[in-house]
Amino acid sequence: NNNDIRTINHLRHVDSMATMPSGAGKIPRLNAVILGEALATEENDLVFPTDEFSQQAHVPSPQKYLEMYKRSIEDPAGFWSEIASQFYWKQKWDDSVYSENLDVSKGRVNIEWFKGGITNICYNCLDKNVEAGLGDKIALYWEGNDTGFDDSLTYSQLLHKVCQLANYLKDMGVQKGDAVVIYLPMLLELPITMLACARIGAVHSVVFAGFSAESLSQRIIDCKPKVVITCNAVKRGPKIIHLKDIVDAALVESAKTGVPIDTCLVYENQLAMKRDITKWQDGRDIWWQDVIPKYPTECAVEWVDAEDPLFLLYTSGSTGKPKGVLHTTGGYMVYTATTFKYAFDYKPSDVYWCTADCGWITGHSYVTYGPLLNGASCIVFEGAPNYPDSGRCWDIVDKYKYVTRYSRKSLRILGSVGEPINPSAWRWFYNVVGDSRCPISDTWWQTETGGFMITPLPGAWPQKPGSATFPFFGVKPVIVDEKGVEIEGECSGYLCVKGSWPGAFRTLYGDHERYETTYFKPFTGYYFTGDGCSRQVIIITVYQDKDGYHWLTGRVDDVINVSGHRIGTAEVESALVSHPKCAEAAVVGIEHEVKGQAIYAFVTLVEGEPYSEELRKSLILSVRKQIGAFAAPERIHWAPGLPKTRSGKIMRRILRKIASGQLDELGDTSTLADPNVVEQLISLSNC
Ligand code: PRX
Repeated sequence: NNNDIRTINHLRHVDSMATMPSGAGKIPRLNAVILGEALATEENDLVFPTDEFSQQAHVPSPQKYLEMYKRSIEDPAGFWSEIASQFYWKQKWDDSVYSENLDVSKGRVNIEWFKGGITNICYNCLDKNVEAGLGDKIALYWEGNDTGFDDSLTYSQLLHKVCQLANYLKDMGVQKGDAVVIYLPMLLELPITMLACARIGAVHSVVFAGFSAESLSQRIIDCKPKVVITCNAVKRGPKIIHLKDIVDAALVESAKTGVPIDTCLVYENQLAMKRDITKWQDGRDIWWQDVIPKYPTECAVEWVDAEDPLFLLYTSGSTGKPKGVLHTTGGYMVYTATTFKYAFDYKPSDVYWCTADCGWITGHSYVTYGPLLNGASCIVFEGAPNYPDSGRCWDIVDKYKYVTRYSRKSLRILGSVGEPINPSAWRWFYNVVGDSRCPISDTWWQTETGGFMITPLPGAWPQKPGSATFPFFGVKPVIVDEKGVEIEGECSGYLCVKGSWPGAFRTLYGDHERYETTYFKPFTGYYFTGDGCSRQVIIITVYQDKDGYHWLTGRVDDVINVSGHRIGTAEVESALVSHPKCAEAAVVGIEHEVKGQAIYAFVTLVEGEPYSEELRKSLILSVRKQIGAFAAPERIHWAPGLPKTRSGKIMRRILRKIASGQLDELGDTSTLADPNVVEQLISLSNC
């Protein structure tokens, strides 16, 4: 009965974080009964895709989604092997499509997909598309830091460049299974290098070119690459950054620790700096332009097992040492390609742009691999969204528009990733950028998951601003309480995943025990994401079904998410305490209007050291130097002492409240070894 359409309960605000140790903000929850008809108002908060959009979408309705999802859960082997068959396999996988054990009580945690299948992801990204007639299609557009500087490569051209580099790497002795560290900005050479490694079965480890020399050397020491690839410098906004100097310093450090690097390939990035003033180590350093063009443009593929490693990507955890997340070939290939196709409703005529840097997982899965596996034309952007001014993104959208000439009219779909998008930012994105016409895929996932896990399929469900909505095919998210018991229906708790999916990471490089301890031991039998989550059940009667929208509420561990950059509190703390004048440090995340979260550091100085502005700056510099500028604390709070339990554990809960000014919510401080510390900290709040 259509008169019931507006039977909508009013918004109910609850502090969903009450049950969680930390996390971001308050999540509005809503119970709604909607019978048909799109009601894109603030009141009900549901935003429906237009009929026009849904009709052309790969998944045009909730029914279709539910049908596909059900199949993916009930018959994962059948579901995924059908999709996997669309790729090129030199040899098909063994009879069992996958095998898994996520339960630590039953032995070693183990995930395998398409084991025994022989393939190559570079072949599937390039050769297969060229053979299918896409040779002259643009694979990558490049848009430079400065307006007016651009470039592009067709699939054939990209293949040739990849082969040249692959031949060179082979000549340098790089073999299947060897690591190659890549420290490059968003030049076309970055995806080229990733693909060249994949072609010869080498394992790439891209280090975001904003990381410091210390961070870079730490990663080099961990994975011991045969070759390091970088460029002399990059222009970021108006600034020139001398990347080669950073690499030089990192290589000095790694050599000291017993990991000498014999080959450092350096791309001359002429738009930033000419080669003559680059510092050089003869015998080790080689200019890319001097050697690579001389190599043949064909290079035989190294066929690898689906479970052979594809790449390592270091990410922050709750201890100081970064974790080398390891992804393998076959499952990652199938999963990134499929999530890309469905979450962005990809069509061959699209021009696709993901603003992420290949130094992060988003750039791996959704700049390089996902789009190229689909034969897409993808933009690689070197610059910053606010340079030369804040209109840069929309200039780029208009420049690469597909059909029409009018501002942003070419946009079909918008995406969001990396942190919870709050409903008002969502509405701005939807109404202003997307002209209230383009669905938003708010994709929740992690470095560890390889690809999207919870995401709207844009033509299927109505969206809710700020909610990542529903699980992708084959993903079984569950919300558990502190004891690891699954909670049904509307609830808040810890987000876990039951069972494996093809894109899951297989281990932490060189530390399988840490892999098990961090991700599989907290809640036996599940993969623990480290995130909090609320589920909101909405009955959409017209679709004859009811389902749960997922709201990600932020990390519940000691990880802070600053502008989508994942930073471990322990890493920042260890950078601070390495300063000779710092005795102790405790770092917490606070809400930040623009960055999502910001870093707030409590610092205890060595005895007798006076507080000073100069010292504050030098502490911040210490973090910038050791991790990178993006990890610089927003605030240093002088702390004569830190609130600790009698057993010496820092009570971060109290620090979080002090940092966010919620002084009336400090809770019980009586268990502290010295309760006076809290008063002292409060009195220094404005210093
Ligand atoms: O807290 C979640 C947040 O980012 C974390 C993963 O960070 P990283 O491994 O660097 O990968 C970032 C790109 C996938 C998650 O644990 N996160 C990521 N996407 C979302 C998100 N939080 C809310 N909504 C999202 N869409």
